[in-house]
Amino acid sequence: MSASSAYRRTTHIECKEAPQSLSFDSQAVHAGNLVDATTGAIRTPIVMANSYRLPDDPSALDWSDSQTLFYTRNLGFNQLCLERKLAALENGEEAVVFGTGVAALHAVFFTFLKSGDHVVVSDVTYEAVWRLFSELLPQRYGIEATFVDISDLAAVRAAIRPNTKLIHAETIANPTTKVADVEAHLSQRSSGHFLV
Ligand SMILES: Cc1ncc(COP(=O)(O)O)c(C=O)c1O
Repeated sequence: MSASSAYRRTTHIECKEAPQSLSFDSQAVHAGNLVDATTGAIRTPIVMANSYRLPDDPSALDWSDSQTLFYTRNLGFNQLCLERKLAALENGEEAVVFGTGVAALHAVFFTFLKSGDHVVVSDVTYEAVWRLFSELLPQRYGIEATFVDISDLAAVRAAIRPNTKLIHAETIANPTTKVADVEAHLSQRSSGHFLV
């Protein structure tokens, strides 16, 4: 039995039965938590393990299963609990957390973009994102970007192309605190199928 199947087995027993019925504040405390089977601790302890027990027959393991604990590069137990807490707080099905913001940004870009795609990017964006979209992604991967004032909906609309796959803005922006109206950008999706 893997640690994550242990998690699955105990979650609905030990956690609140229906976290969705709890208030946001209560979910912030309880969602994703389980009673520790070894110690009885009522909050999930910090697990320092870097590797987790594998099945006797490793060929049975699905190495791309994002919910299976086997090595911390892929997933750690506390990371899994945090993902479940965030998914509950957002009323989402799943969440993914990363060790750094730039790792999260790379995961989004390399998961959803491919050569020939176009991205609309806020003209106020973190330096690492600026370099990705102004140099690395266009030059090495053929992914084009248009930088626009993300608070100007008409400018964003004008920048959208048939091959636009993503509108990227970190809101509230560092360093100018410019705010993107995410709902409004989402509503422009009639002009294409893209992520915001
Ligand atoms: C707006 C913004 N995005 C991304 C990052 C990168 O985050 P990290 O340093 O965790 O990779 C930062 C870091 O300051 C940031 O301010």
